[in-house]
Amino acid sequence: MQDSRKIVILTGAGVSAESGLGIFRDKGGVWTKYDLNEVATPEGFARDPVKVHDFYNARRANAATARPNAAHFALARLQSDHPGEVVLITQNVDALHEAAGATAIHMHGRLDRATCSACTACWDAPLVMSADDPCPKCSAPQTRPDIVWFGEVPQAMDVIAEHLTTADVFAAIGTSGQVYPAAGFVAEAARSGAHTIEINLEPSDVAGMFDAQIDGAATTSVPAWVDSVLNTA
Ligand code: APR
Repeated sequence: MQDSRKIVILTGAGVSAESGLGIFRDKGGVWTKYDLNEVATPEGFARDPVKVHDFYNARRANAATARPNAAHFALARLQSDHPGEVVLITQNVDALHEAAGATAIHMHGRLDRATCSACTACWDAPLVMSADDPCPKCSAPQTRPDIVWFGEVPQAMDVIAEHLTTADVFAAIGTSGQVYPAAGFVAEAARSGAHTIEINLEPSDVAGMFDAQIDGAATTSVPAWVDSVLNTA
């Protein structure tokens, strides 16, 4: 019988770690080197836009040279080959899911997009943004990376809520489960009856919220999991 289960997947920094993009919280993570209040809040941006642009310009340059890894490609394969719907939601601001051929909902925005605080226009970000860049639509010099900062509402939450209530399987991959609302998705999916799986380098602090656990580096564990779902192992 054909497996038409709806699979909803949440990815985090661990999926892109082996592509050379840093994670946030463990040893050597981004938030051990930078104060997130200074570079990832609207208040920090208002205080020092140059510092915030410098931070994201460096991350954008890094992301521009990164290549998708075996985990990104496996998830793209799952999305194209699974007979049921596969929804990919990512907290990552890189474009590696798309580079691997997948379609993802970017709930925390994208490094390669810019937006205007004055008129909400959105466009492809130049590699280097500056505090004086005028908006291409309204000319206001209030452009910023299209990134959801702490204290702001993530993107596409209504669409995501709908997917969580109709999921048969929910998998969280490479995320520490420390940041809401994404950290609450497992509970929402479970309430709607989904089977929940955590796939992570090691069990996270919230591993107990999941029905099942797969440990290991994403480039190994994710292709193996996709093979098992598609029955191609
Ligand atoms: N394979 C699988 N998992 C890995 C790997 C790997 N190669 N390397 C690290 N991990 C796991 C870590 O064990 C950790 O649980 O990935 C997780 C990364 O956690 P965080 O650094 O907290 O990243 P994430 O959960 O994506 O952060 C959420 O926080 O600062 C914000 O907006 C930022 O989107 C980000 C959000």
